[in-house]
Amino acid sequence: MRIIESALEMQQTALVLRAQGERIGFVPTMGNLHAGHLSLIRIARQQAGTAVVSIFVNPTQFGPNEDYAAYPRTFAADRAACERAGVDLVFHPAVTEMYPEGASVSVTENALSRTLCGASRPGHFDGVCTIVAKLFHLIQPHVAVFGEKDAQQLRIIRRMVRDLRMPVEIVAGPTVREPDGLALSSRNQYLDADQRRQAACLHLALEECRRRFAAGMRDPRELAAAMRALIARHPAARPDYIEIVDNETLAPLTGPIVRPALAALAVRVGAPRLIDNTVLTP
Ligand code: PAJ
Repeated sequence: MRIIESALEMQQTALVLRAQGERIGFVPTMGNLHAGHLSLIRIARQQAGTAVVSIFVNPTQFGPNEDYAAYPRTFAADRAACERAGVDLVFHPAVTEMYPEGASVSVTENALSRTLCGASRPGHFDGVCTIVAKLFHLIQPHVAVFGEKDAQQLRIIRRMVRDLRMPVEIVAGPTVREPDGLALSSRNQYLDADQRRQAACLHLALEECRRRFAAGMRDPRELAAAMRALIARHPAARPDYIEIVDNETLAPLTGPIVRPALAALAVRVGAPRLIDNTVLTP
């Protein structure tokens, strides 16, 4: 398994691979790899002969009061996990490789990023779009794999690729969960034992929502209220947002659900802010 730290070397390597007829599958990550990331790597390997993983904690997608400095950096373990997973190449740049001194160009998405996490984390998706666009330029993937766990991110990346005519296919990987339903996340390790038990409430709320939806409930306010009530039974949980939005536009729904909708929530359990979602298809 090759490890590249230089942006220029990465781009030249990708161009050589492409010239040799290799199909490149790419999984962008911020490291601290868990079974969710590894499931995306498996998909990339099924889709392409060469699997590339990037490991880069992207400063521009963290707000001033967020956990950029504290974000877990575990390169030795990540590298070993990539090796075991059959990754061909790990791209692990320094911040200065991705953001040259005085960098002043960024990518902004102006519609899908207005709601949900975009509303509570201003600038977050500009940071995500900008780094993913740069990574695509360097790694030149034929296919890139993103997790459904970050549903808004996935939809925004698809929109960026469509609008900027980027020659890459975006594939979605299902959310990998703990036995109690908690979605795997690098931030779960900050939960103490009691918070960890209560953190299953995100999944339980979505299950409750799905149950009511299956029983015929179509009013987004009623469905959101049912989720809110379930979260409220968990004292360590403080909701940031609990919403039902249109699955395509991510706009809040005003009337009953007649097209696929996305039930999404962000909840602080202690300090960590956890997210989860499910698609409701009438
Ligand atoms: P990160 O949080 O490391 O996630 C990398 C990828 O793993 C994302 O596509 C995310 O949706 C996926 N993922 C996370 N938890 C998952 C789970 N439990 N099951 C399945 N997939 C999961 O998302 C980012 O990094 C960054 O924003 C990035 C795209 C790398 C840009 O910096």
